[in-house]
Amino acid sequence: MPITCAAAAADLIVDAAAAAIERAGRFTLVLSGGRTPEKTYELLAAAPRTSAVDWSKVYLFFGDERFVPSGDARSNYALARRSLFSASIPANHILAIPTNLPTPAAGAALYARLLASFFGLPPDGPPPAFDLILLGLGDDGHTASLFPGAAALDEERAWVTASPPGTLPPLVDRITLTYPVLNAAKQVAFLVSGAGKAEAARDVLMRHAPRSERPAAGVKPTHGTVTWLFEPRCG
Ligand code: 6PG
Repeated sequence: MPITCAAAAADLIVDAAAAAIERAGRFTLVLSGGRTPEKTYELLAAAPRTSAVDWSKVYLFFGDERFVPSGDARSNYALARRSLFSASIPANHILAIPTNLPTPAAGAALYARLLASFFGLPPDGPPPAFDLILLGLGDDGHTASLFPGAAALDEERAWVTASPPGTLPPLVDRITLTYPVLNAAKQVAFLVSGAGKAEAARDVLMRHAPRSERPAAGVKPTHGTVTWLFEPRCG
């Protein structure tokens, strides 16, 4: 039985957690949004994998968020809450992107301050190096909420920024980590499902399209590794 992409992703996360906890005593994991990772999160939250992770040393963050209430079906936090979060993950180990402030820009600024405080870094200095950042890929080559042609692609200092909707649903304002944070990661894993993304993936990996056209092409960690997990159905 060939291992599914979701199972491979869950195993990659279990391994990364064990290595980070052994190395540094904790594991900082950035969750991706969209539908693809849901099966991976469910596998992580279930036996046998859930008992292979010391959740007391795991800290969860979000790579991006739709500017909707946390209970909204479009919320990435809501997806993670129903598929991954369980009693074994301390509530204060989950740092959600705030979407209850008046504007996406205010939410982005607060999240950046929360990250700076967690990592004990100056908020206007170099970004933190997350142990693992999970990313998805849109049919248009976007990743997180970095959309083709968006101003967010040019953000080289802020760790978190607001971004207007892209062209793919849900067409709502977004808050997203920026390239400086993505490219400071120790490890990045793209979870890609669906034949509709094949062209964008080919453009990124084989045609070396510019990041303005295929934003996932801008994810080139300075010192970290990038893993791509594909399947016609990765979810
Ligand atoms: C979001 C995501 C986004 C997502 C891709 C793939 O908030 O929409 O973070 O980058 O990962 O659009 O989404 P699917 O997994 O639903 O195809």
